[in-house]
Amino acid sequence: MSRFDHTQYRPFVPPVTLPDRRWPEQRITQAPRWCAVDLRDGNQALVEPMTVEQKRRLFMLLLEVGFQEIEVGFPAASQPDFAFVRWIIEQGVIPDGVAIQALTQARKPLIERTFEALHGVPRAIVHLYNSTSKVQREQVFVRSRAEVIALAVAGAEEVRAQAEKYPDTEWTFQYSPESFSATEPEFAVAICEAVMAVWQPTPKRPMIINLPATVEMATPNVYADQVEWFCRTIARREALVISLHTHNDRGTAIAAAELGLMAGADRIEGTLLGNGERTGNMDILTLAMNLYSQGIDPRLDLSDMARIVRTVEEVTAIPLHPRHPWAGELVYTAFSGSHQDAIRKCLAARRPEEPWEVAYLPINPEDIGRSYQEVIRINSQSGKGGVSYLLERDHGLMLPRWMQIEFAQVVQRWAERGAVEVTSDRIWQLFQEHYIEGAGAYRILRYQIDRNPQAADQLVVELQRDQEVITLCGSGQGVLEALVKGIEQGLGVRVEITNYHEQAMQGTTDADAVAYLQLRCAGHLYSGVALHRDSVSAMLEALLVAFSRIGGEVELRHAS
Ligand code: KIV
Ligand code: ZN
Repeated sequence: MSRFDHTQYRPFVPPVTLPDRRWPEQRITQAPRWCAVDLRDGNQALVEPMTVEQKRRLFMLLLEVGFQEIEVGFPAASQPDFAFVRWIIEQGVIPDGVAIQALTQARKPLIERTFEALHGVPRAIVHLYNSTSKVQREQVFVRSRAEVIALAVAGAEEVRAQAEKYPDTEWTFQYSPESFSATEPEFAVAICEAVMAVWQPTPKRPMIINLPATVEMATPNVYADQVEWFCRTIARREALVISLHTHNDRGTAIAAAELGLMAGADRIEGTLLGNGERTGNMDILTLAMNLYSQGIDPRLDLSDMARIVRTVEEVTAIPLHPRHPWAGELVYTAFSGSHQDAIRKCLAARRPEEPWEVAYLPINPEDIGRSYQEVIRINSQSGKGGVSYLLERDHGLMLPRWMQIEFAQVVQRWAERGAVEVTSDRIWQLFQEHYIEGAGAYRILRYQIDRNPQAADQLVVELQRDQEVITLCGSGQGVLEALVKGIEQGLGVRVEITNYHEQAMQGTTDADAVAYLQLRCAGHLYSGVALHRDSVSAMLEALLVAFSRIGGEVELRHAS
């Protein structure tokens, strides 16, 4: 029998009932206080924890991005973390206004060692935690509620006593009831208030209470209810900074953090791109970009996304998924034809002074250093819009609709055959093969047109085909009709022009004019394109290219 048996699990019972919840009506209108925990929680989750040099690189990146609170390690538990904390303090690389944060368990020797590590720092946050959930109390630590509160209080007293020994540092105290989201809400409030009684926070000197979803247990609305209930219940809310620390076990850490902000929290802990225990910590980069894309200043500078991604990938040795929100390699790329068409139209209609509104592109990729080059890429799912967009972008050609449809099929057949992406270079090669290169079959040596407003235009054109020189003469309303007649009389082939379009080029190539032409011969359609300095030559050449493509299908009777 399969072990995949859901009956062994129970639903998570929402621990608070909050029928008058207010968070669903709230909107996030400003960025929270951010605290990056990449160097602590993120680092603890790596197969190979970061070296001091890698930590230094990541620390510098976090500073450049603009974090003002950075958890730099768990110095009492790890010698490399201790060394790193000493290094950044002794090197004086912590800018004014930035507070480093160090995590400690609620045990006297660990707290002492944490303060030793922080010695000499101008500002710091000491982050005290202990586990509070029922399963941790009863099965892991085998402690009663009172004993768990006593542990937290003793830890808080030790933190206060140690801080008094280092009066030159501006200390902030933070307490986390670890596994908050699985803790009975009344107990979470009781233990936090017991710690508050020791630290005596005031609105001027607030303490931070961090509410971890250490393991994500439920849908994010349940966490939001817990946060709102906590904020409404805890004493002296005005003397507290409520911080959220969500993990991503169910894949909704970001949603939980967002709803938690709506529920009244002030601060968010997380990591860039979401590295962290198991499925990761809350991804700060995504949350910040979510705000940015809604017109809210995230107060983090994410404009050099490539550098952020590269650094995080290198120090964590974890490659970023190409579809990672906002930062992945493919997230500004459309392969689907209808998406490409919509993007092309919106970009063409866009007025730079107006708010961004482009279908399928929630932000302008240029904001984060990405280019429009990558927006439209072609595979067998793509349609005429994308193919035409690339020809226009890279070669200045604006194909008429009939040719867009025709050429998209050529590209699609090619993509299907190879089951691969079709690059812009390949598209250009296919375009030349199909529409331009046939020109070699008939080279125009010279031509003469007699224009007569009262009668038909007379055309004499001398062509070379292989070693042979052919002269065609024809008359008609306009040059094209005259050449059609010339072909009929001189080569014995009846052709009819079914589509014609001319484009003036704007300085992108040597040519000034492009002619796109389609003709019908013996029930089949043939197309040609010619780029030329003057529009008459382009016209004639386009007709001759299309005509050349008839090839062996029609027996050409050369004039003797
Ligand atoms: O996930 C967690 O609960 C933690 C705490 C130490 C804050 O990382
Ligand atoms: Zn954590």
